[in-house]
Amino acid sequence: MATTQSAIVLPPLPYAHDALEPYMSRETLDFHYGKHHKAYVDKVNSLIGGTEFADASLEELVAESTGAVFNNAAQIWNHDFFWNCLSPQRRTPGRELSRALDKLGGLESFQKQFDKAAIEVFGSGWAWLIKDGADALKIVTTSNANTPMREGHVVLLTCDMWEHAYYIDHRNDRGAYLKSFWPLVNWDFVAANLES
Ligand SMILES: [Fe+2]
Repeated sequence: MATTQSAIVLPPLPYAHDALEPYMSRETLDFHYGKHHKAYVDKVNSLIGGTEFADASLEELVAESTGAVFNNAAQIWNHDFFWNCLSPQRRTPGRELSRALDKLGGLESFQKQFDKAAIEVFGSGWAWLIKDGADALKIVTTSNANTPMREGHVVLLTCDMWEHAYYIDHRNDRGAYLKSFWPLVNWDFVAANLES
C-alpha cells in the first residue's frame, strides 16, 4: 500500500508582513520569510522525496540528517523559531524570566552581551539564549545552519545573523539591526521556552 509522504511545510507567520514596521520592513519579511525561508522548505522537500527521510518530521531531520538535508532542515527550524521570537506587540520580560536574566546581570547587561556575541558571529549564523543546566541561562552562537537544538539544548531566544536578515533595512550594520530587534522580542515566548 502506498503511503502518503508528509512534506515539510512553511508555517504561516504569526503576524502580517508589515506588522513589524518600523523595526523590520515589509520588504524584509517578503524576502526573508517569503523567499529565503520558503526556499529552504522547497529545497528540503525536493531532497527528501523518495529517501529514508521522506516521512520524517522536521525535528527528526534536524537530529538525524547530514549535509544538504541537515542544512536546509535546520534553517527551517531556526527560522520557524526566529519568527516566533518576534511580535508586533511590545512586551517586557515577566517576573520569572527577569529573575533568570538577573543571573546574566539583568536585562540591559544581557542585551549588551547578546549584541556583542551576535555582532561577532563570523559570516552567517545565529545568536541564541539557551538554558544552561537546571536554572541558568547562557548566550551562544552558531555558524551557518547549526542549532543548539540539535545538541538537545532548550533554546529560549534567537536572532538571525545571516546577512539576508538585515541587509534590506540596515545594509551591513549589524548594530542597527540588533537595535531594531529588541523592541520586537516576544518575551512571552521566551518565558514559555524557559518553563518548558
Ligand atoms: Fe534568515
